[in-house]
Amino acid sequence: NQGGMHSASLSAQDAAASSAQPEIVVLYGSQTGNAEGVAEQARDSAKARGFNVRMADMADFGKKEFKAPLNLMVVVSTQGDGDPPDTAEGFYELMHGRKAPKLTDDTHFSVLALGDSSYDQYCKIGKDFDARLEALGARRIHDRADCDVDYEDAAERWIDAVLERYITLTGAESGGSSAGAGQAIPATDLESANSIYWKKNPFQAEVLESIVLSGRGSDKETHHIELSLEGSGLTFEPGDAVGIVPQNDPAHVDELIDMLRMDADSELGEGRRLRDALLSEFEITTLTRPFLEHWSELSDAAELRRLMDQESRDELRDWIDGRHIVDVIEHFPVEGIDAHTFTQALRKLPPRLYSIASSFEAAPDEVHLTVGIVRYETHGRARGGVTTTYLADRVQAGDTVPIYIDRNKNFKLPHDDDTPIVMVGPGTGIAPFRAFLQEREERGAKGRNWLFFGDRRFRSDFLYQTELLNWRKKGILNRLDVAFSRDQQEKVYVQQRMRENTVDIYTWLQEGAHFYVCGDGERMAADVHRALLDIVRDQGGLDEDAAQEYLRELQQAKRYQRDVY
Ligand code: 2AM
Repeated sequence: NQGGMHSASLSAQDAAASSAQPEIVVLYGSQTGNAEGVAEQARDSAKARGFNVRMADMADFGKKEFKAPLNLMVVVSTQGDGDPPDTAEGFYELMHGRKAPKLTDDTHFSVLALGDSSYDQYCKIGKDFDARLEALGARRIHDRADCDVDYEDAAERWIDAVLERYITLTGAESGGSSAGAGQAIPATDLESANSIYWKKNPFQAEVLESIVLSGRGSDKETHHIELSLEGSGLTFEPGDAVGIVPQNDPAHVDELIDMLRMDADSELGEGRRLRDALLSEFEITTLTRPFLEHWSELSDAAELRRLMDQESRDELRDWIDGRHIVDVIEHFPVEGIDAHTFTQALRKLPPRLYSIASSFEAAPDEVHLTVGIVRYETHGRARGGVTTTYLADRVQAGDTVPIYIDRNKNFKLPHDDDTPIVMVGPGTGIAPFRAFLQEREERGAKGRNWLFFGDRRFRSDFLYQTELLNWRKKGILNRLDVAFSRDQQEKVYVQQRMRENTVDIYTWLQEGAHFYVCGDGERMAADVHRALLDIVRDQGGLDEDAAQEYLRELQQAKRYQRDVY
């Protein structure tokens, strides 16, 4: 069930791969599916080279798997500021705890770490596994690769290089061509249109509607955007996301070009010109360590050199906070730098993912988004989120937006329509739950639905109020609990509403409910997790460890799913 071209090109080699060939285990830990996608690509490339391959989710990988020596390709992402993917938590703890398996040097491994270099704990989980596997006695057969948000090319190089090592090491016949590697189409579990349109070949979706959801007096700006999928053949399920391929703000691009005293038309090779490349190819806002390292090599500024020293790590982190690339250029000007050298210091502009707020069944050929527009001021400059301001300010109804569908297998309605669900979605975290409710209504699903929603003020921030109250009236939403944090002196958050409903939440869980959380991953998701932990501990009569185990089992059974950012 791969993208059509992919499986067709591989089936012959599939048959050719005999059981005499050594086995490679592609072990992955994935939150949104990127690591899983890379793992699938690794699997296909390994098959194409004649290996027997097994793909294994860290969620299902226990100690007994290490009884016999393994040939591992480990692909794992890092969440936020250094956490493993939810489903990999148990495995991470197993490997780093006292009960970790003892390995020998006939277990081989190499790690591909996915991450985001604008975080201090860049690729931490991959780094941890890399060090830990070696410490447990396994043999690293190829250096770890750390991949930034524009991971595709680096991931492909890692796959090729590791497989070359395995061929040498195991004496495997290089049976197939490298049909699985270097493919233009990522190996994800998609129908054909969904694999034709992807980040490097997006679909131009017409904007049908763009309205401001947040009311007058709100200090937030939340948009509801409807895009047309007509003619694309694209489909999706509730829980999936849309990838938007944005453009930078032209005013910001021009400011940078002026500051650098460059010519907007400078050639960058392959017919690309500086201004166009800065608009659509490169990330020009977020400040990363690699950019600063690059810049400090070009600059004579002693102050910057000092900041880059290992001893100044904390000071550097404070300096970076709230600053963008433009601030570095302004603070530490470099004379006479050319366009090519400058763009080499930049990373690729990554597409941004938004949880889909509609059901394809209920609104065919449309996809709805709930977007919180990011605007703020730091160090005396107005800043804006690249994609959110692009959507809010630079496209209007009638324009087109380049998009693709990004499947998320880890955020899905229960297969059984009778299964109850509990949803916690404050702020724009409401998006996938609007899709869930539309879908369940459309399907006539009998399972009960309970939503916790929160935002700042009832009057201005009750997103989708009319729809939610309608669903409540119709009995589609069996329970709706809201927390408006700034309508009274004391802050009230969704987790407080959960705590007020301890008995019922526990009862729903015992009755088989699935539990979903979407929204802020910095604090909300952790606080909601804590509340849930307290609920199962108190109601289940469990101690702390047993309560954690309860939630871990829920997660591994995919009954506790999160989509947090
Ligand atoms: P606040 O902005 O008043 O602090 C959606 O953004 C809602 O989530 C807002 O009401 C916001 O409240 C609230 N929120 C902020 N921090 C939170 C947290 N740690 N847990 C749950 N909700 C939180």
